[in-house]
Amino acid sequence: MTALAASSPPGEDLRPVRERIQPLLGGPSSTIVREFFAALRDPFTRSLRHNTYLWFGVLWGLPIPLFSLGIDLLARDLPVTMIQVFAVFREHPLHFLFLAHPLLFAVVFGAMGSVRRQKDQKIAGLIADLEEHLRLLAAANAELKGLDRLKSEFLANVSHELRTPLVSIQGYSEMILEGRLGPINAKQAEGLQIAGRNVIRLLDLINELLEFSRLQSGKSTFHIGAFDLRDAVHAAAVLLRPRLEEKRLRFEEAVPPDACSIFADRDKLNRVFINLLSNAVKFTPEGGTIATAVARDESGMYRIEVRDTGCGIPAEAHGRVFERFWQYDGSTRRKHGGTGLGLAICKEIVQGHGGRISFESAEGKGTVMRVLLPIGRAGTETSP
Ligand SMILES: Nc1ncnc2c1ncn2[C@@H]1O[C@H](COP(=O)(O)OP(=O)(O)OP(=O)(O)O)[C@@H](O)[C@H]1O
Ligand SMILES: [Mg+2]
Repeated sequence: MTALAASSPPGEDLRPVRERIQPLLGGPSSTIVREFFAALRDPFTRSLRHNTYLWFGVLWGLPIPLFSLGIDLLARDLPVTMIQVFAVFREHPLHFLFLAHPLLFAVVFGAMGSVRRQKDQKIAGLIADLEEHLRLLAAANAELKGLDRLKSEFLANVSHELRTPLVSIQGYSEMILEGRLGPINAKQAEGLQIAGRNVIRLLDLINELLEFSRLQSGKSTFHIGAFDLRDAVHAAAVLLRPRLEEKRLRFEEAVPPDACSIFADRDKLNRVFINLLSNAVKFTPEGGTIATAVARDESGMYRIEVRDTGCGIPAEAHGRVFERFWQYDGSTRRKHGGTGLGLAICKEIVQGHGGRISFESAEGKGTVMRVLLPIGRAGTETSP
């Protein structure tokens, strides 16, 4: 994590940005007066070459002595000559005070120019700091993405390597169970059956991991075909009927009378519906209700809902539901099985179809999982 470590260069001003910007936004009048007097000592205030504010002050103050002199000469009906001007100055020394105004304004405006320059310099420094931080952040982000990709590749490789020996173990267990390698007694058969079931669980997990990494890396092919969404959702429910009956759950199905034709990958969407339904069954206690609904949304997309009256998801966990491996009850002694990959895979599949998946859930009340899918078009495409 070199980029992350480098994000705090030695000697860097680590005060929060707000604290550093505050003095530039102006402050109480005492601060402004202090800034003004400090600026008077700045050589830039007196720089005729660089401080244009100074000239602006001179121009601003110049009309005052000119007008006062002009009015005096006009009032006495005197011609505007150098002799008369000297005479007026001698007679009314107050004109010397007016003459000082361009100088006075030059000093005030010059000091304002200095304050402005100091603030500009501070802003430029802050912008440079901000740009440096953004650069470091982008580098850290790129590094994190690289590490994440490495981790996913590692997971995919390990899963792949694990699958081959497991398939072989499964094959041999079946052969022994079937007595093809010699007779076995009932106790041995029972032990082998348990081992076989666990091998299947492990293979399921590995297949899920491989599918997820294929989807994430965009290497999964979507085989697009036309079918009726109502049939796909119904088929998933039929598959789960034994579990619905086992838990004595009521099942309701709402579908529109007209066909809901869609161009999509039916197998992949089946996976989505099966996971949403099996989650609903898993997290709904006996006697509860599960309902599915298919409808056409106002935006022209299909909306598929899976509703349950189960335990729900607490509000503080809502942000994590689609994270891979996340399960609300992640303890090793949790009631429900699974890997926590189901919804992460659903999200990849739905997004791969250009759709969206969301949910509403209240603890103790139940959950509604909602999938929005575009009608799609024919052809074979790869997931993005
Ligand atoms: N209908 C639901 N009601 C309550 N909690 C849910 C529901 N659906 C999902 N969850 C919560 O979200 C978590 C993640 O769901 P997900 O389908 O990704 O994983 P899983 O079902 O635990 O395992 P897998 O699907 O991989 O077998 C679940 O463990 C559960 O805590
Ligand atoms: Mg699940």
